[in-house]
Amino acid sequence: MWRSSLRLGAWVGVVSFAVLAISGDAQAKLMFEQQPMKMAAAEALCHTERPAGFSIMALGDIADADCDSVQTFTVPALLSFLAHGDLDSEVKGIEDLVGEYQERYGTHYPDDAALGELAGAPVDYVPNLPVTYWGFRIMIGFGALSAGIGVLALWLTRRGRIPESRWFPRMTLAGIVLPFLANSAGWIFTEIGRQPFVVVPNPTGVDGVWMYTARAVSNLTTGEVWTSLIALTTVYAVLGVVEVFLLTRYVRGGVEGVLPGPAGRGQGGGRDDETDGGGDGPDTGGSGDALAFAY
Ligand code: HEM
Repeated sequence: MWRSSLRLGAWVGVVSFAVLAISGDAQAKLMFEQQPMKMAAAEALCHTERPAGFSIMALGDIADADCDSVQTFTVPALLSFLAHGDLDSEVKGIEDLVGEYQERYGTHYPDDAALGELAGAPVDYVPNLPVTYWGFRIMIGFGALSAGIGVLALWLTRRGRIPESRWFPRMTLAGIVLPFLANSAGWIFTEIGRQPFVVVPNPTGVDGVWMYTARAVSNLTTGEVWTSLIALTTVYAVLGVVEVFLLTRYVRGGVEGVLPGPAGRGQGGGRDDETDGGGDGPDTGGSGDALAFAY
């Protein structure tokens, strides 16, 4: 049962990553057309390039938007392919895009008191580069790592094998956590990469539909925001602790602790039976499914 559930999880991880890579490629092409600044920020691409390489990693101060202090290791022409489906298209860099954005959407925020301290201030069209750059890499990298773990797990459990080493269960646990981190990174990348807009202007869509994030800020006080943040974080932290506690308890109880036993043991009674080898499995009360109790 352990082996089958592990293999099912591994297949889901591997297939999901393949599907995400295909849908991500389609999203990247749309992003290139509709949010060119997000594309440039995702790559910390300061200067326009043709063909443009995909950056695997960057060393130096990415926040420095003129990029001269940043050294990137790139796969040649891959960004052109991701952006436009060919290996030779031009991808605009931040420098050129800032000029274009200023021309289209203005250099300063409107002098409107509703915009608070940003009223009349210059608009910064460059999103937070380190967060956007690393968010994109963590999304893809952690997703790929998790899929790699899935492939390895499928290989090591092929034809009835059960790996004995201590590192194997730890590695498969990482395979569960990594997609959640990749997901969060993808979301953070998307939200930060579209700043300073909450509704991003779409150069290929309806003209004039866009809104600065500064305009969308609600009039909640800082204290109110902190209160809901702390309350929600506490609730989820408590639920997380309970979840891990219950999972640990039932994992220690073993499969027998949650399965109906052979004749006479009845539902959930596996571990109540002192003769079945002992162990510190959970007391399920002798009736009902133990996992139903947990969840
Ligand atoms: C080769 C792999 C991948 C590529 C090329 C890719 C590409 C992209 C792109 C271009 C976006 C931005 C869309 C936009 O803002 O317009 C995005 C967003 C996102 N990605 Fe990925 N991605 C990949 C893998 C993954 C994986 C493995 C996960 C999660 C396990 C993931 C989760 C997300 C999430 C949650 C968003 C935000 C969606 C939204 O809020 O609209 N991506 N991805």
